[in-house]
Amino acid sequence: MKDIIILGIETSCDETSASVVKNGRVVLSNVISSQIDLHQKYGGVVPEIASRKHVELIIPVVDDALKGAGINLDQVDGIGVTYGPGLVGALLVGVSAAKALAFTMDKPLIGVHHIEGHIAANYIEHIDLEPPFVCLIVSGGHSHIVYVEDYNKFEILGKTRDDAAGEAFDKVARTLGMGYPGGPLVDKAAKLGNPNKINFPRVYFEKGNLDFSFSGIKTAVLNYINIMDQKGESYRIEDVCASFQFAVVEVLINNLMTAVKLKKCNKVALAGGVAANSCLREALTDNAQKNNFSAYYPKPLFCTDNAAMIASSAYYQFINGYNSDLYLNAIPSLKIGSR
Ligand code: KG4
Ligand code: ZN
Repeated sequence: MKDIIILGIETSCDETSASVVKNGRVVLSNVISSQIDLHQKYGGVVPEIASRKHVELIIPVVDDALKGAGINLDQVDGIGVTYGPGLVGALLVGVSAAKALAFTMDKPLIGVHHIEGHIAANYIEHIDLEPPFVCLIVSGGHSHIVYVEDYNKFEILGKTRDDAAGEAFDKVARTLGMGYPGGPLVDKAAKLGNPNKINFPRVYFEKGNLDFSFSGIKTAVLNYINIMDQKGESYRIEDVCASFQFAVVEVLINNLMTAVKLKKCNKVALAGGVAANSCLREALTDNAQKNNFSAYYPKPLFCTDNAAMIASSAYYQFINGYNSDLYLNAIPSLKIGSR
């Protein structure tokens, strides 16, 4: 069978990325130009700065991805692009570039949902992984438990009602004066702390409901620090990080395990930036051993935003005939499973 080569483009937040992927699984190139340095001094992503930087970077990044894969644009079978959810100005840059390339080269265009892309990162990492499986997607913008029934069929089992898990990590790091993005810094500091030192709140909804809420724990961390400061008592940042991370991971894993039982599934995957968290990965691996299921997670490079995962997801749409037309638009609050 002829190989199918997809060019993926991702610009939904603060990474400009392009990648060439063969048959949905083999990454021939994956170029990621991060804007973290630009946003660091503001403590978070500034949407207007992100869009302008994407405009500057998109063509050179696509060029580098094609060169890295050793191919020309005419050797590509389709162009996949994230069209939501995300920052509208940032998404529009990728969508416009992909439409221009698809139109001029007369190539199929495939609009990709960002979260479906994160899920597909597991196909790149685990060449034998096939649906059905349960996936926990935790990033700066999303916290979802999804049943991946088939490559293009998704059922949302639970999601956050307020902050995303990554957002909570970033806000706690900011409160502690640690910098941006906070997740990796909290993860590192937590390794030197006591996870049982402070009992931060865990929020669960009624039995059987798999939604999350992370806005309370972020306030609880802020209150703890203020109270300690007022009392003139010292505390270790490492203990705050370890206790916060332990509480978040406990809720994520407990709801995920309920989902696994509900779906009687023997495969469980992690995806999204927070899936790079060492405590979360260990907790999933432990549970997999105890409960006899297989655990999957991508390497950290494929957990955070990248275009390889978008190309992989686009491939599974492409081979099933789900192409977009040139009216494709950026949809900031796109629902998962929209076709
Ligand atoms: O998937 P991603 O790159 O962007 C979105 O789609 O949002 O995720 C970025 C998020 C940030 O909130 C970052 O702090 C978090 O992932 N993150 C982590 C770790 N590495 C990245 N959170 C916890 N532990 C980590 N090791
Ligand atoms: Zn993402």
